[in-house]
Amino acid sequence: MSYRKIFIFMSIMLSVMAILNQLLLQGDTLVLILILAFSALGWYDVLQQKNAVLREYPIFGHLRYILLDIAPILHDYFVESNTGGRPFSKNTIKLVYARAENKPGYHPLGTERDFYKEGLEWIGHSMFSKGEFEDQPRVLVGGPECTRPYSASILNISAMSFGALSKTAIQSLNKGAALGGFSHNTGEGGLTPYHMEGGDVVLQVGTANFGFRYPDGRLDEEAFRKKSKLDSIKMIEIKLSQGAKPGHGGVLPAAKNTPEIAKIRMVEPHTDVLSPPFNPSFPTEEKLVEFIGILRDLSGGKPIGIKLCIGQPSEFESLLDRFIEKEIYPDFITVDAAEGGTGAAPLDYSNHIGMRGDDALKFVNGALIKKGIRDRIKIIYAGKVVSGFNMFKAFCYGADLCNSARGFMLSLGCIQSLKCHTDRCPTGVATQNHELAKGIVPNFKSHQVRNFHDNTIADFIDIAETAGVTSFDQFNPELVHVVEPTT
Ligand SMILES: Cc1cc2nc3c(=O)[nH]c(=O)nc-3n(C[C@H](O)[C@H](O)[C@H](O)COP(=O)(O)O)c2cc1C
Ligand code: SF4
Repeated sequence: MSYRKIFIFMSIMLSVMAILNQLLLQGDTLVLILILAFSALGWYDVLQQKNAVLREYPIFGHLRYILLDIAPILHDYFVESNTGGRPFSKNTIKLVYARAENKPGYHPLGTERDFYKEGLEWIGHSMFSKGEFEDQPRVLVGGPECTRPYSASILNISAMSFGALSKTAIQSLNKGAALGGFSHNTGEGGLTPYHMEGGDVVLQVGTANFGFRYPDGRLDEEAFRKKSKLDSIKMIEIKLSQGAKPGHGGVLPAAKNTPEIAKIRMVEPHTDVLSPPFNPSFPTEEKLVEFIGILRDLSGGKPIGIKLCIGQPSEFESLLDRFIEKEIYPDFITVDAAEGGTGAAPLDYSNHIGMRGDDALKFVNGALIKKGIRDRIKIIYAGKVVSGFNMFKAFCYGADLCNSARGFMLSLGCIQSLKCHTDRCPTGVATQNHELAKGIVPNFKSHQVRNFHDNTIADFIDIAETAGVTSFDQFNPELVHVVEPTT
């Protein structure tokens, strides 16, 4: 007999018995309610047509979905090794927590990594001290056309929108940026009151121009001018693509399009809003170059950059030619690694589209040098930068500055439960649920954000001094070794 038939038989028997027991013997009402509730759920499972597992295994079938839901957490706690875990290993997460809590984060007994495994990276240390690395390193962003250059920290908060993150998370990040003197990127969702806690802000212009758009999606220049001129806005970043989903747009579903978010993004509330894969304001290379010039004028000469994940190298080189031809250059290019993060993306886009970070960074640096324009454009790198070593490597491969998104999420207490797309983030970081968001107290968490920033830079400086590097011009790819396959 199938489980389904057993359920139908048992549910009828138990329900009848429980009702009779209640009527004749005045049995326990709670037992009656429980039996009827489980029977109702089971009957719903049997009668619905969408899910075969639940039709065949009423009530018990739900266990499968509960287990699937909590599997990542169980796996992380009970199965995963310290060096395993994706996107970040347990050891890496522990390191970020230690940095955020101002703890030393020492590891006992030696490395757990396989030192003979292909791809393992290491740095050659120097035999003698070559001196101290530059004190309080900062980098001035802004080429010759920029009249309001920005002195940036070498580690900053990468783009993450209010909408992807909760308001308390955004407030904590911005307060943290204010405490530590670094910048906080709004993400494509635009500028919100939660970005106004005193931190320096990088205003992102996403493909939908959220926050400064006409209803058809084109840029509303007046709205952009007003926002970009605010004192806290230090730089403007035009997003062309994002490593986790290059060339893929997104939808802000009607349910998440609350009146608050709609007002901020300048869209109709309670409607599905499309974030297109490409910005309609610049359909061609030429238009993009002109757009950079337009934004620079509208913002009153602030640094303007583009952010992209490298796809087809020839397209990028051709864009550089257009900069040279029109004599309009971005002040910075943010290179986003294909292994970068997102709130939600189609798996194929995250797994198979775009160039991985190390290759992209070396390529962009090389292309700018080849075209003779490296000195006027700064390179910002984002792609799993969560430690001093990651920063050191990025500088060796050509970066001037680093951005981190998920590192700062971890510093807020993210436990890598991989539920960012469900609105049920257990730590209140990536949710619009007010109750969950209350888990984050900005006045407290902002200190963790600042600590993570400061301690990661201190680690980076230690490593640089260990390698005998004392200034930015001494970084080069030869300082990083990668274990080759054995023949
Ligand atoms: C939750 C989340 C939301 C993001 N939102 C944006 C966004 O609005 N615009 C953007 O350009 N990148 C966005 N990103 C990408 C990050 O800014 C960053 O480029 C990428 O995650 C690589 O950095 P990471 O490896 O430190 O996370 C988002 C990433 C995350 C994790
Ligand atoms: S804890 Fe929240 S932010 Fe972190 S992975 Fe889980 S759902 Fe995403």
